[in-house]
Amino acid sequence: MNAKNRGSTPPGNGASVENDAALVVPAGALPNQGSPSNSIALMAEPGQLAPQQLGQRRLIHRDPSVRKQSDAFREIRTRLLELAGTQNFVTLLVSVSPRSGSSFVARNLAAAFAFDESKTSLLIDCNLRYPEQHKALGVDANQGGLIDFLEHPSPGIKPMIYHTGIPRVRLIPAGQARENSGEYFSSFRMRAVIDSLRCRYPDRYIFLDGPTIKGSPDARILSELADFVVVVAGYGRDTPKAINQAVAHFDPEKLAGVVFNHAP
Ligand SMILES: Nc1ncnc2c1ncn2[C@@H]1O[C@H](COP(=O)(O)OP(=O)(O)OP(=O)(O)O)[C@@H](O)[C@H]1O
Ligand SMILES: [Mg+2]
Repeated sequence: MNAKNRGSTPPGNGASVENDAALVVPAGALPNQGSPSNSIALMAEPGQLAPQQLGQRRLIHRDPSVRKQSDAFREIRTRLLELAGTQNFVTLLVSVSPRSGSSFVARNLAAAFAFDESKTSLLIDCNLRYPEQHKALGVDANQGGLIDFLEHPSPGIKPMIYHTGIPRVRLIPAGQARENSGEYFSSFRMRAVIDSLRCRYPDRYIFLDGPTIKGSPDARILSELADFVVVVAGYGRDTPKAINQAVAHFDPEKLAGVVFNHAP
């Protein structure tokens, strides 16, 4: 995968997360935004997965065997942190066309942020038509998910926040699949819950796993809730024309880059 930064950075000068691409990211340049008085980074981590289990779920980890992949995601992380300054933020990941890999990139980017022990990641599955994250992460979403909260908010969002087995990474699954998701995403309740999830802990970084851009306004509607948008293109699948059309859906100020994902 390659990431093209927004602003003045020239195209092609980006991160690469292609399965076997080599990348080197300078270490130790990340600011520590957590504060002991208002931090969730030190919370207990039950049921942590071993590197082999993480590998089976196609998740990056600290083992040197996946160094190239994890370094590539670290590089995307570093670039987002550079764009954001000192605040935690909300990143939307959307694919140019179905199966380009935005869910894969979203969960691995969430994992890369949480490599830093002073940060936590919250992945929210906003693909209400084809929810996948709970399956990919092996989470038993028996308390429901985002849609259940939006329809019946009285229990609060907390019961819908699940451990993933990845230290400091939590998931809000989508809940029961729905056809009409746009109206949920444009609701006051959705905006309020994202704001409160972000503001509650300064060390929490939020990743919205969105639907494909093609054929639906939902990705653009979701971008209203995000600080940054990362567009995921299928390497060798999505044409430059399709990528340009996809990118044009979003506010250029929010567009952090395009990631070229080389799925097997
Ligand atoms: N770089 C990669 N390396 C390994 N597996 C990958 C990679 N990219 C995608 N996959 C796998 O390919 C499948 C499709 O990817 P993913 O679900 O992320 O696509 P998507 O764009 O989110 O699809 P949808 O349109 O359904 O939301 C998944 O099983 C995912 O794990
Ligand atoms: Mg997806």
